[in-house]
Amino acid sequence: MSNTDLMQYFYTQEDINSIPINVVLKSEFSTWKKNQSEYLQNWIETSQFKAKPSNILSIPNAQGELNTVVVIADAKNIIWCLGTCAKQLPAGNYHIASPHKNNDKIYLGWGLGAYQYRQYKKSKQKLCKLHISESIDQNQLATLVQAIAIVRDMVNAPASDMMPQQIAEQCQTFVKEFGLTISECVGNDLIKENFPVIHAVGRASVHEPRLIEFNWGNAKHPKVSLVGKGVSFDSGGLDIKNAQGMRLMKKDMGGAAHVAGIALAIMKLNLPIQLQVLIPAVENAISANAFRPGDVLTSRCGKTIEIDNTDAEGRLILCDAITKAVEDNPDLLIDFATLTGAARIALGTEVPAFFTNDDDSAAELMQASEAVNDPIWQLPLHKAYRYMLDSDIADICNSAASGYGGAITAALYLNEFVPVETKWIHFDVMAYNMRARAGRPKGGEAMGLRAVVEFLQQRYVA
Ligand code: BES
Ligand code: ZN
Ligand code: ZN
Repeated sequence: MSNTDLMQYFYTQEDINSIPINVVLKSEFSTWKKNQSEYLQNWIETSQFKAKPSNILSIPNAQGELNTVVVIADAKNIIWCLGTCAKQLPAGNYHIASPHKNNDKIYLGWGLGAYQYRQYKKSKQKLCKLHISESIDQNQLATLVQAIAIVRDMVNAPASDMMPQQIAEQCQTFVKEFGLTISECVGNDLIKENFPVIHAVGRASVHEPRLIEFNWGNAKHPKVSLVGKGVSFDSGGLDIKNAQGMRLMKKDMGGAAHVAGIALAIMKLNLPIQLQVLIPAVENAISANAFRPGDVLTSRCGKTIEIDNTDAEGRLILCDAITKAVEDNPDLLIDFATLTGAARIALGTEVPAFFTNDDDSAAELMQASEAVNDPIWQLPLHKAYRYMLDSDIADICNSAASGYGGAITAALYLNEFVPVETKWIHFDVMAYNMRARAGRPKGGEAMGLRAVVEFLQQRYVA
């Protein structure tokens, strides 16, 4: 069964033998405990249970079988209270006992915590299933579980299994459900069709570079363009990364995975949006024909770019795709990219950075982020740093001599390709959990995806 199938984590038909899960707020735990039987109070002491968010208390019956489960919730982050259950409890059917059984967020936390990437494991872990009560919006739940599973699956796949052609295949697989076919501009056609920078970055790989595109929706609706960085593997090119820097670079197509997930959500939720998705997909490889530091590339829009560092390749492939997107005059342009290590220095690995030229979008995004507990943080498009990208011989350099403010200079580079009148949001994301947390297993992760989907729903659904 694929990771995107909701019914491996949930069931709908009631089961009288299912085990109840009681959700108790951390702040209410001591009062709650006082009202329990002596047996249970003793059990809490004996098992040395700590009332910390997402902790699970398993309560046996007289035969020593699992009878009831108690989980602790943090009122502000209730979404994650069941985030460790599916993997930690014994396989079987469970249901949420009142009063929280109508809270959609809790179900999502369960579903996201149940995810496992087992493509290369011989054994599959048997999962627990949770009963979905009728009041839950199943389409919204299935959409987010599926969209996030797509992101995680794509990022977790080894680079050798997620080369540009496989990124395209992944997209084709999930757009089929909506009667769509993706289009691709591949290899030397990138030159013919005027995507010279995507070609230059990807030409050293035996896996041909490409621009993947698909469109969906009604032409009467506002046009939203999504652009995602699809670097299958980032060796750094000739300015080669060191071993530590290269180790996780299978995730450098995380931006592509994010826009694929968001596109899926837009289509499944049938948002009144005319959607365009553009994914420049390349492998940043080394060979005799690799592009070099000091080379000058002419981009799709005519701007010339001096290559300072071949490891700043994400912004290069994105600029040709962004130029293509703005040719159609979108109402909103959003890009996602695992663009800089500097964004991780600024905010750590768990808070994606975003930049925008539109204050309304920033405010709406922050609101959406808080509403769905999907943290993001705005960094400034500080124009005064643009000088750091000045080139002696071309219109712009692809990276700055100094690493200070590296996430900002990367965003300023992209900004050069966005006309002032185009509303634009740029996400610089890690796309990877370095540690496991409730609902967020170690490995590939969607970051800011739920915030963006909520933002789009708020903005475009009347
Ligand atoms: N894919 C990396 C950025 C990255 C590194 C994201 C680690 C997340 C975690 C990107 O292509 C890159 O190599 N950026 C360089 C830019 C520099 C050469 C200007 C970086 O951040 O060091
Ligand atoms: Zn790089
Ligand atoms: Zn990269």
